[in-house]
Amino acid sequence: MCQLPKNIPNPNLLVGIETSDDAGVYRLNDKQAIVQTVDFFTPVVDDPFSFGQIAAANALSDIYAMGARPITGLNLVSFPIGKLDSQILLEILKGGQTKIEEAGALIVGGHSIDDPEPKYGLAITGIVHPEKILSNSGARAKDYLVLTKPLGIGIITTGIKRGIVAQEDELEAVRIMSKLNKEASEIAQEIGVNACTDVTGFGLLGHLHEMMKASGCHAEIFCDNVPVISSAWSCLASGSVPGGTLANLEYLKEYLDGNYDSDWKTILGDAQTSGGLLFSVPESKIELLVNELKGAVVEAAIIGRVYLGQEGKISITKGKMI
Ligand code: CO
Ligand code: CO
Repeated sequence: MCQLPKNIPNPNLLVGIETSDDAGVYRLNDKQAIVQTVDFFTPVVDDPFSFGQIAAANALSDIYAMGARPITGLNLVSFPIGKLDSQILLEILKGGQTKIEEAGALIVGGHSIDDPEPKYGLAITGIVHPEKILSNSGARAKDYLVLTKPLGIGIITTGIKRGIVAQEDELEAVRIMSKLNKEASEIAQEIGVNACTDVTGFGLLGHLHEMMKASGCHAEIFCDNVPVISSAWSCLASGSVPGGTLANLEYLKEYLDGNYDSDWKTILGDAQTSGGLLFSVPESKIELLVNELKGAVVEAAIIGRVYLGQEGKISITKGKMI
């Protein structure tokens, strides 16, 4: 990433742009901090209502990744006004609204511009106790890594654009992308985790790398423990790989080692839209956490371990964790 201009230091800025965390956090008083994030993108599926739901679930995800509760959202809209049926825009916004309602938040405004390519997303504000922030920097040696949604979304949405995905598989992908990370975040807050981030554009490997770098640790991932949406394998076999996934793997290559094959590497580095949460969890809490997550998230999988070692490095191991 390029060097961003820096803020004047301020004691109330609890999480800023320097740490590559999921959202910014500003302390209002001893009991409350606001958490802010923004995210928008071009359609990942054809159905406008589903696109709205996915975009909103994705925008809310960074709030949940900080352990916060979303309270308000602002719509961000780019739309070819007068060229595309305005009903389509209405459907996108309705989809977003349903997810904001499910989150217990409110849409309080927004902004739209005329743009040949439609885009939608939201700026979200959440609230959290300043001492209850979940960050990506607290992972400790011997922790277990837990993921709450299966991988393969980027590969499948690329397949959808190429018309090679069966309708039932597309619906399954939409269901997974639209699922809020709300329960996952609430359960992590209740039980306690050492670190948390959401898995989005940088893929599992990219977000795990950032967590390990911020925490000064090294991770090991066991391929057979990692949940993958089954249709991702056939899309991958047809060569459906998003550009973002390839860029992730190129960026990460010096941090990866192990006995993995190239298909697994592509799955693990796949750019996700509205992916799950990734937790680093102490051994004393792992069983309770996974039991609570079961049934509340798409899939709760223990996918690896954390070690002391070269910070930011990830070892990928074939087979199952012992
Ligand atoms: Co994030
Ligand atoms: Co984001």
